[in-house]
Amino acid sequence: MNGRCSDCGADADPLAICACGGLPEFALGPVRLDPAGLRRVVRERRISYEPLFASGVWRWQELLPAIDRSAIVSLGEGNVPLYPSAAGARYAGVDRLAYLHLGMNPTGSFKDLGMTVAISAAKASGARAVVCASTGNTASSMAAYAARAGLDAYAIVPRGRVSDAKLAQMREYGAQLIEIDGSFDDAFNNLQLVEGAAVVNSVNAYRIEGQKCAAFAILEARGWSVPDWVVLPGGNLGNISALAKGFREAKQLGLIEKLPRLALVRAARGVDTEASAIAVGAPRSLNRAHQALRDFDGVQLRIGDDAILAAKAQIGREGIGCEPASAASLAGIRALRQAQGDTGGQRDTIAPDADVVAVLTGHILKDARGHAA
Ligand code: F0G
Repeated sequence: MNGRCSDCGADADPLAICACGGLPEFALGPVRLDPAGLRRVVRERRISYEPLFASGVWRWQELLPAIDRSAIVSLGEGNVPLYPSAAGARYAGVDRLAYLHLGMNPTGSFKDLGMTVAISAAKASGARAVVCASTGNTASSMAAYAARAGLDAYAIVPRGRVSDAKLAQMREYGAQLIEIDGSFDDAFNNLQLVEGAAVVNSVNAYRIEGQKCAAFAILEARGWSVPDWVVLPGGNLGNISALAKGFREAKQLGLIEKLPRLALVRAARGVDTEASAIAVGAPRSLNRAHQALRDFDGVQLRIGDDAILAAKAQIGREGIGCEPASAASLAGIRALRQAQGDTGGQRDTIAPDADVVAVLTGHILKDARGHAA
C-alpha cells in the first residue's frame, strides 16, 4: 500500500502532513482474493488458533499496510458486538436499529482498532516513543499499546477536561501525562512539546487503516447486507474518515454493492460539552469528513447536551450503556426523525422505516458522569 494525500492526491509519507496541508492516507493496493474468497478467509481466521487472528483488525491483513509480523502489537481488539435494539429503535423512531459497541474493545473505546496498527508501525520503524493529544480515549489506548510494545508514551491532555477513568488508564499503563491549560485543540497545537516521538493521533494514516475495520465489522455482523444509515459521533473527525474509507473499499472490492448513508453527530456546545470525548473545536480531519459526507449522501448535525444525556440514559436502561459522547449517535437519530429537533429543520431526514446502525464509541465506565434518567 502506498501513501497519498487525502486532499490533493499527491504521493505522501503516511506519517507526514502533505505540502498542501492535507492529511496522508493509504491507497488500497491490489487484493488477490475475490469477494467470496475474502469473506471466507476472514471467517476461517475468526475460528483459527492463530493468535494474530484473535484480532478483528488483523484478520483483514490483506487490506492493511504490510507490517513485519514480529512488530505487530495486538490486544485482541475489534471483536465487538452489534446489539439489535428494539427499545432504541422505538426511542429514535425507526423500524430497525442496532448498536455497534466499539466500547467493548480492550481499553474501552474504538481507538484500539487504529492504535494496534499505528503502534505496530511505530515499533516496526524503530521508534522509541509515541505521543498524542487527546480528550482521553486516544491517550489511554496509546498508553496500553505502547506499554505492550515497550515504547515510551506521552499524552498531552486538556487539564480538568478528561474523565478520571481515562486518566487512571493512562497512569496505570505508564504514560507520561502532560496537562495543558485549554482545550483539546490547544493540546493538539502542543504536540511538538515532545520531540522525536511518533504522533499517533488520527493524522497518522495507520490509525485510519485500523479504524476502517469497524465498517467491515458492521457488514460482517449483518451477513454483508448494507444498512440504510450509519450514525456516529464526531470529534476530531478521524473516525468518520476511517469508516468512509472502509465502506468505500468494501464496495471497490465487490463485498457490497452500495454505500450506506452517513450521519455525523457533533456536540452543539463544542469544546464546552459534557460529552468531553468529543469536545473538539477545530477538527483536523474536517476536509476528509466533508468528502465522506458528500460521497455517502450524508448529513451532519449538532446536538445539545440534554439530548445526549437523555439518549445515554436510554442506552443504559437497555442494559448496554456507553459514555456520553457515544450516546450522541442515538440522540442524533432521534433528532433526524423528529419534527422539532435541534437539527436546523432537517425533518424526517431518516425515514421511519430505515434500517440504522448507531456506532457507540466508548464504554460506560470510561466516563461515569452525566447520568440523566
Ligand atoms: N467518541 C468517543 C468516545 C471519542 O473518544 C471520540 C474522540 C469520538 C467519539 C470522536 O471520534 O475524533 O475520530 O471524530 N476522541 C478523541 C480522543 C478526540 O482524544 O480520544 P473522532
